[in-house]
Amino acid sequence: MADLHASWNDVDRYLIDTLADEDEALAAARLSSSETTAPGIEVTANQGRLLRMLAELVGARRVIEFGTLAGYSAIWFAGAVGECGVVTSLELEEQNAAIARANAERAGVGDRVDVIVGPARASAQALVDAGVEPYDFAFIDADKQSTPAYLRLVLELTHPGSVIVIDNVVRGGAVIDAESADDQVRGMRAALAEVAGNPSLEATALQTVGLKGWDGFAVIRRLS
Ligand code: SAH
Ligand code: DHB
Ligand code: MG
Repeated sequence: MADLHASWNDVDRYLIDTLADEDEALAAARLSSSETTAPGIEVTANQGRLLRMLAELVGARRVIEFGTLAGYSAIWFAGAVGECGVVTSLELEEQNAAIARANAERAGVGDRVDVIVGPARASAQALVDAGVEPYDFAFIDADKQSTPAYLRLVLELTHPGSVIVIDNVVRGGAVIDAESADDQVRGMRAALAEVAGNPSLEATALQTVGLKGWDGFAVIRRLS
């Protein structure tokens, strides 16, 4: 096989067509990411389905997400939390937030997707300060260099039993470079080290290949 990426993509398309069951509103949201500030970096449909299933498995009613983009992953989560649930999604760019809100409306979940515009660190701190009800599930998928800060905030916004997923932990293998000068790589390594050093967290991480290239995600469970 000369071009491995071509086969990864073909297999992802096959798996998505066979199992992901992405509906029209989700497909429209995914395509609308071309109008955002970062076209095409949303999770794939099979990853979205996995996120939704993980949230369902923990019976999540409240999900917090760092990085909204076009609201694609948020709409998958909205399907998990049920009519009385809430997805709080933190996004820096007003342009993206507006697109995401429109996509959530079209998907019929506008009432349960709450996009908060601003730097996610400040938005999450404001939620901590306001003493909001804890979240059952957190998805960290914004600027990678801030991942350690987001993890610390998530630990203030969740409860024992909550599940935390961190996206993009592998980045084409870059994560193993302990000497990396790339802030994104350093951020991810620091976040994973914090997870490893925190006895109240159980965690693993998996590599992925497919439509998003070679990457991976960490799944973390709060024990206490
Ligand atoms: N979770 C989305 C993809 C998010 S892409 C999905 O899978 O559908 C990452 C997003 O993080 C982008 O929309 C980007 O604008 C946003 N972002 C970058 N830096 C940020 C910051 N400091 N605070 C909040 N959001 C940020
Ligand atoms: C990038 C960000 C993501 O969250 C992702 O899933 C893929 C790529 C990026 O910033 O390039
Ligand atoms: Mg991502």
